[in-house]
Amino acid sequence: MSKRYAVFGSPIAHSQSPFIHAAFAKQARIALDYTAIEAGPEDFAGKLAASGVDGANVTLPLKEVAFALCGDRVSTRAQRARAVNTLVRDADGWRGDNTDGIGLVRDLTERHGIDLRQRRVLMLGAGGAARGVTPALLDAGIRELMIVNRTRERADALADALGEPARVHARGWDALPKLGSYDLLINATSAAHSGALLSLPMALVESRSAAVDVSYGEAAVPFLAWARAAGCVKTVDGLGMLVEQAAESFLLWHGVRPDTDAVYAQLSARSIALFTAD
Ligand code: ATR
Repeated sequence: MSKRYAVFGSPIAHSQSPFIHAAFAKQARIALDYTAIEAGPEDFAGKLAASGVDGANVTLPLKEVAFALCGDRVSTRAQRARAVNTLVRDADGWRGDNTDGIGLVRDLTERHGIDLRQRRVLMLGAGGAARGVTPALLDAGIRELMIVNRTRERADALADALGEPARVHARGWDALPKLGSYDLLINATSAAHSGALLSLPMALVESRSAAVDVSYGEAAVPFLAWARAAGCVKTVDGLGMLVEQAAESFLLWHGVRPDTDAVYAQLSARSIALFTAD
């Protein structure tokens, strides 16, 4: 009988994870069933138990709930992100991990050829998406991380939690015009999901800057259009990160790391209007 897996979240109807995992499974010749299950914070635990799955991915708005559900049975990287996107079932119950950060780093360095070492990085946003990827960026050897958030206190809290005062700094949105330029600009805000436009000074961009939006589909369009207009040499959406984090989850469950390039190419070609990064 096929092993069963699922992605939980809300909204979940547009998730690409079932497509990605089916493609990986075909490639690795593993029989599995991977579905998308709509669940909110209040009914997630019940739906997870009722689903009978052997492993799960967890997306918005459940990553913190999944982290709490695992108690102390979480990986170091999930502990640092205080969020879980991958659940692995063993004899004692659920173990939690977080593959978002390594997914972003792999996509940037291996697919897009962006060397992160010694880079000065601007992180826009300090919510769950930012928290999930910042530890891996620091591990990848960036020189400086400037976290800018509309609500200054959240930027301060994330910077404090990262515990690297020499490399990590925090500011409110009003400081943006005074910051100068960065090698890499990352949009981890949810502004586009609610139709809001970010107000960003062109001076953040210099001749070699690259820009990344951790969202994909239509949600990534406004920020990346701004970045191109401001002169960024490279713009990257979150589709590759999505595929890479999925590959890391697949590795945790099946002990095989799939080849991601073919699946990434298929997803890019389908160019569906997608709204959520998971
Ligand atoms: P996610 O898990 O997607 O990160 P979140 O935890 O709710 O969701 O965080 C959303 C992020 O987008 C926050 O950094 C939020 O800023 P606040 O902390 O000030 O709320 C940011 N954000 C959302 N809409 C925004 C907007 N219109 N302008 C700037 N930042 C915005």
